[in-house]
Amino acid sequence: MSTKNNAWEYADSIENASHINLRKQYDLYIDGKWVKPSSNKYFSSSNPHDEKHIADVSEANEEDVDLAVQAAEKAYELWSKISAAERGKYIFRIARLMQEQARELAVIESLDSGKPIREARDIDIPLACNHFFYYAGWADKLEYAFPNQHKKSLGVAGQIIPWNFPLLMAAWKIAPALATGNTVVLKPAETTSLTALKLAEIIEASGIPPGVVNIVTGFGDTGAAIVAHPKVSKIAFTGSTAVGKLIQKTIAGSNKRATLELGGKSANIIFGDAPIDQAVEGIINGIFFNQGHVCCAGSRLFVEESVAEKVIRKLKHRMQSLQVGNPLDKNTDVGAINSKEQLKIINRYIDIGIKEGSEFFQTDCAIPTEGYYCRPTLFINVAQSSILAQEEIFGPVLTIQTFRTVDEVIQKANNSPYGLAAGVWTDKGSKIFNLTSKLKAGVVWANTYNKFDPSSPFGGYKESGFGREGGLHGLGAYLK
Ligand code: NAI
Ligand code: MG
Repeated sequence: MSTKNNAWEYADSIENASHINLRKQYDLYIDGKWVKPSSNKYFSSSNPHDEKHIADVSEANEEDVDLAVQAAEKAYELWSKISAAERGKYIFRIARLMQEQARELAVIESLDSGKPIREARDIDIPLACNHFFYYAGWADKLEYAFPNQHKKSLGVAGQIIPWNFPLLMAAWKIAPALATGNTVVLKPAETTSLTALKLAEIIEASGIPPGVVNIVTGFGDTGAAIVAHPKVSKIAFTGSTAVGKLIQKTIAGSNKRATLELGGKSANIIFGDAPIDQAVEGIINGIFFNQGHVCCAGSRLFVEESVAEKVIRKLKHRMQSLQVGNPLDKNTDVGAINSKEQLKIINRYIDIGIKEGSEFFQTDCAIPTEGYYCRPTLFINVAQSSILAQEEIFGPVLTIQTFRTVDEVIQKANNSPYGLAAGVWTDKGSKIFNLTSKLKAGVVWANTYNKFDPSSPFGGYKESGFGREGGLHGLGAYLK
């Protein structure tokens, strides 16, 4: 079953990457068993660093999705009735098993997605475990969370996740669904299925009743089959705004509930009175964390004119020290772009920016000659009307604009079809409170950026979607 494959080659060469255990081929995880896809079709999951094949993954069709939904529906009868404390125990068990396998999960995540091992190890995997721990704790306290409201679970939750935080998004989706007594059919993104399949093994080992969690892999049509299935009561989706809109069309007029976490074009605002060096670190983290494949990336920088020259000079200097390269190298700051398609999208935006004539800056670090890589990139003095300032790029590309007054920056920051997150950097608490009340964003960070915690709700306004995940709000999304 578990066989050595070429993933071991990487593992052998890198000290941090020992003990990874991947199958050559993954079937679908349905009703507590590994089931062959009915079409017998598999596709390759590869490493964006060198395009090498890692493992084969099943392509689920409508028939397979139907099987998974039926299993989840059957399991719901049991799962929604067992004691809440018992449900919590299973979720705790999953969290602990994930922790035990944290190193292996981090290496696989980095291999399959292109994210730096340092981020997978220190952020993604621990946070994913924490989501299970956090929601395990809520399972038998729902009456305290929603006093006298007699909340009930929804049934089968269909969950579709993206490739930027594969295991973490699976945790965000599965943990609250289980804690509230729902059952799950989850589809990971086609370029990053492997940690979700490792999670299926962990779920299997936890002894949770079969069918409570089903993991089906595949492309967009697999996702569409989950969305369209009549026995799915709730859709939880994270991904592009375009697919979010398709999902809304499909479920219009049905009783399906949905939460959609879509794109973003978040403003990171630096005032002249901010601690500048700290703010520069915040800008770097805001846009270059996970190669900028972050829905809440601080991709639009607004700098107060009086300090703009200084901030941009320091930012360029700091960017030159970023190491771009093999995600499995512990010194790597910026890893590989997740896919060839995504690299194409990013490069197309860079070309547009250059044509539009904004000042362009890229670091001159060495980057690998094969694989999907993009240098950290700035566009300075970008016009508000520029495509670059309007559209989500989802890569290591930052646009910079300046402002003079608070009202001006609020107006500019809110002038976007999106409303997911924002950052404010200032020494003045009053300014922070003023901006947090006026920025149309689901999350506003003050003097920090990209800080996540299971207890804090996350979600957007406008084209960034609706509904909240995380915290108490995240429970509410799985209850009626
Ligand atoms: P996508 O929205 O197509 O993929 C996300 C997930 O949805 C994947 O699991 C995919 O298989 C699934 N999916 C695709 N079509 C579907 C359908 N019709 N019904 C149900 N599920 C479907 O995103 P993609 O194509 O990978 O990336 C394109 C752009 O989307 C990126 O450049 C980025 O701007 C944005 N994006 C934003 C994300 C975010 O977290 N805000 C995450 C991923 C992409
Ligand atoms: Mg991959």
